Amino acid sequence: MENRLATEIAGLKLANPTMLASGILGYTGLSLKSIIEAGAGAVVTKSMGLEPRTGYPNPTVVQTDCGLLNAMGLPNPGISHFKEEMKEIKSTGVPTILSIYGYSSEEFAKVAETAVKMGADALELNVSCPHVKKAGAEIGCDPLLLTEIVKEVKKKVDKPVIVKLTPNVANIGEIAKAAEKAGADAITAINTVKAMNIEIETGRPLLANKFGGLSGPAIKPIAVRCVYDVYRSVDVSVIGCGGITSWQDAVEFMLAGASAVQIGTAIAFKGVSVFSSVAKGIDAYLQRKGFKNVKELVGLAQNY
Ligand code: SIN
Repeated sequence: MENRLATEIAGLKLANPTMLASGILGYTGLSLKSIIEAGAGAVVTKSMGLEPRTGYPNPTVVQTDCGLLNAMGLPNPGISHFKEEMKEIKSTGVPTILSIYGYSSEEFAKVAETAVKMGADALELNVSCPHVKKAGAEIGCDPLLLTEIVKEVKKKVDKPVIVKLTPNVANIGEIAKAAEKAGADAITAINTVKAMNIEIETGRPLLANKFGGLSGPAIKPIAVRCVYDVYRSVDVSVIGCGGITSWQDAVEFMLAGASAVQIGTAIAFKGVSVFSSVAKGIDAYLQRKGFKNVKELVGLAQNY
């Protein structure tokens, strides 16, 4: 099974194309290790910044009919506090990607340097959080600012730099192209879709922050379209993310152009066994269709 599923993202070798998405079970070495033991081909941490950040008051996550709505506010202990957690996972040999955010190119670069020193195999730049002012999607919607940040990070680190994009833009292909031109080694598409819900008896928005990001099955078709557009716009690898809960979803993303897929919200509904069930399902599909390796699937839907 391993040979057919083995793949590569920006030089990182993955035993299979499933990855943990940033944002869930990504705070501690132990929780990340449990995802690795469950069969993920790579893991991405919760986004870390230069300083500790409390995040927003509760409620920060609410369930909707079709997924989860969250506005946590990037709570994290600060990058330097993650050192001990990294020790826990380094011995697994599974690529560990540190998700980072910042308020300026200098700050991104500082966090990136620290992350690499503590053993990150790659970085994922979170420029796409839909609700944290000046640190998230405001960057990912502005090709010039994004270019400055990617260039600054690339100057300071010698590990692959992945840029996680927001779908909340008019032309995601153009933004991906700007990131690639600045030196990005891969693109993750997509982060959550900006959304809100309102409780009708009280008339109040349910999230304390009012707005949040929607994840889960509702956003899958949006994410597939974004992966399709990004794949056409760049030559670097694309990582699909958004509503993947089954092997069929993963195959769909790959046909659109994803070389690997990130799974997040599905863990809340299916548990960590989702990684092995998705990997097994992809493998059976490859075998049934006569493919020798999962890389052969990438972008096939672009031919129509
Ligand atoms: C959060 O911490 O509020 C979510 C982060 C993100 O959507 O990037």
